[in-house]
Amino acid sequence: MKKTILIGVCGSVAAYKSAQLVSDLLKLGYDIEVVMTKNATKFIQPMTFEALIKKPVYIDVVDKSEGYQIKHIELAKKADLFIVAPCSANTLAKLANGLCDDMLSTTFLACTCKKLIAPAMNTAMYDNLATQRNIERCLSYGITFVEPGNGLLACGDVGRGKLADMEDIKEMIDYCLEEKLLRNKKVLITAGPTQEAIDPVRYITNHSSGKMGYALAKKAFQLGCDVTLISGPVNLKVPYGIQHISVVSASEMLEAVKGCYLKQDIIIKAAAVGDYRAKTVASNKIKKGNQDIFIECQKNDDILAFLGNHVTKQKLCGFAMETENLIENAQKKCITKNCDLLVANDLTTSGAGFQVDTNKVFFITKDNVQELDLMTKDELSKEILLTLSKEN
Ligand code: CTP
Repeated sequence: MKKTILIGVCGSVAAYKSAQLVSDLLKLGYDIEVVMTKNATKFIQPMTFEALIKKPVYIDVVDKSEGYQIKHIELAKKADLFIVAPCSANTLAKLANGLCDDMLSTTFLACTCKKLIAPAMNTAMYDNLATQRNIERCLSYGITFVEPGNGLLACGDVGRGKLADMEDIKEMIDYCLEEKLLRNKKVLITAGPTQEAIDPVRYITNHSSGKMGYALAKKAFQLGCDVTLISGPVNLKVPYGIQHISVVSASEMLEAVKGCYLKQDIIIKAAAVGDYRAKTVASNKIKKGNQDIFIECQKNDDILAFLGNHVTKQKLCGFAMETENLIENAQKKCITKNCDLLVANDLTTSGAGFQVDTNKVFFITKDNVQELDLMTKDELSKEILLTLSKEN
């Protein structure tokens, strides 16, 4: 069944961004209802939202046009999530104190569903102790926040207070809607390729996009985990709410892993770590000559094997990407690297591999092989995380 999201829009220059949010959420298949404050209608016309959702927008508690219906209870009952974006300082103060003098605050008070607030205001107003106390109070009610960004504000000031990035807001919507099945579990994920320098302008790398590792990090956060993501260079947005450590080479990744693996409950090595690096890195650009050149390579340490030898209580998961003898090669890796789970995929299978959003894998343990259906990397991430968190 379609989930219903109520979107509350307050008076803020950022109110126009709510139309994009509504449009994006409709495309994702949500049922959307919009509630606006009177001040919001000075910044953006209700018609914009009405044209998108093909339904009326609610501004007044008692709507004379709809036969004097009291809509706020009906809306509150059907909502799976209420997000206020942008939330002004004034509305935040009302929500923190249970005031209900307009449709938005009245519906918010009547809602028992998950609630998410995306504040947008001037930096001084945001930093004001009164606003910070209101945020703390809302947090104590179990309301979730997506923090405002830094930048040039409409008033000309530069600082914190911009409405959060739209992708961050959507990630926090996913977070709010996911059941916290793995609350407070500590999860370390490595992702992406590594780059091994040859000279100041060239390097050896692979085709990893980082999509699988980043999907795992997002899903672990949504499930309530405390997530550390160690990533090689990728063109992906850093997921909201996680600790992100950026590395370039395999040896940097190993050092970063050594710095935090002991405090984890689950470790997932989704990174495509370079097996070799140039034995010597030229300090100047290697110039083109008339001869062929050979780059002598030396083996990198195997991070997963290191972990397999050193983990204590941590559940360890590796990945194997093969182009032949998938099961046999993957089983060997699972045993030699001492993994609890090895996720094996064949690069030649359609829907599996580096750049795509789906994957087709086998779950390999020391004594079992399980074939999974083709699924999105998001769905697969949940399968992996829930499998790893099962007690033996
Ligand atoms: N891995 C690692 N450190 C390395 C190489 C691989 O931690 N230096 C991890 C990967 O993150 C992955 C698993 O080992 O979880 C398997 O990686 P893969 O490249 O498939 O296998 P290799 O052991 O490198 O063997 P080969 O390249 O010969 O298939």
